[in-house]
Amino acid sequence: MYSEKVMEHFRNPKNVGEMKDPDGVGEVGNPVCGDVMKVYIKVSKKGGKEIISNIKFKTFGCVAAIASSSMLTEIVKGKTLEEAERITRKDVSEALGGLPPVKEHCSNLAADALKKAILDYLSKRGKNEGGPERS
Ligand code: FES
Repeated sequence: MYSEKVMEHFRNPKNVGEMKDPDGVGEVGNPVCGDVMKVYIKVSKKGGKEIISNIKFKTFGCVAAIASSSMLTEIVKGKTLEEAERITRKDVSEALGGLPPVKEHCSNLAADALKKAILDYLSKRGKNEGGPERS
């Protein structure tokens, strides 16, 4: 049912766990099955651009959800925020060699959780930069 790549990422997922002091966190639940995924990102400046220098995830989900999260973290590491925002669940499932049609919704979790983590980062950064100066 699953591609070899999916099984590889399921058996040996990359970047699993929590992150201390993340710059952004995104959590989504899958309404279809009730599974949940949390993504943590660390953002650094490189060559004047903001890049995702580290990413971790925690998933309570099925084989496809775990493999998608693991693959997503591999794709996203080192990308700029703009590049990372453009990553879709299709990119994730293609990188995994495809997912069975009934499991396509599982790859939504990864892409959606990442988008939320980026939004979380941007809103925190906005507050820090836009806030009144105190002396
Ligand atoms: Fe829940 Fe796949 S069945 S994420």
